[in-house]
Amino acid sequence: MRRYHSGTDFRRAHSIAELAAMARRRLPHFAWEYLEGGAEEELTLARNRQGFSDIGLLPRTLVSCLKTHTQRSLFGTELPLPIAIGPTGYNGMLYRDADLHLAKAATERGLPFTLSTVSTSSLEQVVAAVPEVNLWFQLYCLRDPAVQHDLLQRAKAVGCKTLLLTSDAVLLGNREWDKRNFVRPRQLSLRNKLDVLRHPRWMQQALWPNGLPILGNVERYLPEGQRTIAGAAHFIGSQMDTGLDWQALARLREKWPHQLILKGVLHPADAEKAIAFGLDGIVVSNHGGRQLDGVPASIDCLPAIAAVAKGKLSILLDSGVRHGTDILKACALGADTVLLGRATLYGVAVGGQQGAGHALDLLAQELRLALSLLGQPDLSQLDRHGVLLTTSSPLTVS
Ligand code: FNR
Repeated sequence: MRRYHSGTDFRRAHSIAELAAMARRRLPHFAWEYLEGGAEEELTLARNRQGFSDIGLLPRTLVSCLKTHTQRSLFGTELPLPIAIGPTGYNGMLYRDADLHLAKAATERGLPFTLSTVSTSSLEQVVAAVPEVNLWFQLYCLRDPAVQHDLLQRAKAVGCKTLLLTSDAVLLGNREWDKRNFVRPRQLSLRNKLDVLRHPRWMQQALWPNGLPILGNVERYLPEGQRTIAGAAHFIGSQMDTGLDWQALARLREKWPHQLILKGVLHPADAEKAIAFGLDGIVVSNHGGRQLDGVPASIDCLPAIAAVAKGKLSILLDSGVRHGTDILKACALGADTVLLGRATLYGVAVGGQQGAGHALDLLAQELRLALSLLGQPDLSQLDRHGVLLTTSSPLTVS
């Protein structure tokens, strides 16, 4: 049983798990469950960690590790690490202006930051606060073509060059905690309201004086009088385009002149289609176990996808990344870069920009150390043959 530091000083956290324990103490129950929870029985959520645990590392010895190389070239940009912050919605519920803090922490370290469609800060606010940001935008496909068009225009206008279309959440997964914690959309149950009162530091930092923040990107599309978080949640729910298919993706490809990435690919046949449709990248992702419960871990799907897609488009991976060794394993199995979801959210939830930065620094240190201990200090030379032993057989799909 691990014993973690019992306070909330993020500087004393030695791992992402320790940051998570601190975030759990700081946040009211409903916000913690929103951050941490998965769908239904959370089978996929658990598999995401198990998938990484099941991969063993086979080090080489007597290899000089005076210097480690962790750089990655992605979409024409040199990244110091194979890491980008992935899209997460409602971040301002965890910590005031959390999107801005995440963007600043990523930018300070030369890493991309992805803003969700349902972020609390808007595209324009992020760029005004962090002009140097390497901003990626995550799009949920919306029914109203005028709204969708406007969002794309706004992303272009702020200089965003990378668009991620999320395809695995046109319907929201079955998140039981969400139904328990809210009696109506964004209307907390009495039990949760009382629990909020037991978290005065969070209330003062995240809630006071205006209550829960609104969704910055969609606020302008809401009817007058409904510009609240409940109104925004209702709007998004009613706007999700359940007809999203490959034809819609082809239309988006025509409209978006820059990098287009499909987020939510688990099957190699879909990776092949993404190549055929001229996409620049895919995210091998199960949405952090929050959508269809029972799907495999992303890391278990990666080898079969890399076999058909490596070198034909960029392969990103998320879901369950909590250690430098996870990043190493993902890269060895064919990922160009990982996206972080909860890992940096724990950090931002306890310490804003510095907390998110601490999460990134922990992962970077762990990755460098792991590469050295593996006897493979150059990330670009890492591949599955020389260094990895899988204790469970990687998923093969026919
Ligand atoms: C998400 N995710 C997500 N994805 C997306 O495309 N748009 C979004 O708005 C959100 N929102 C969101 C909120 C929260 C609280 C979480 C935890 C996740 C999914 C996210 O981009 C990513 O796929 C997962 O978080 C990866 O799993 P890990 O790293 O969190 O385990």
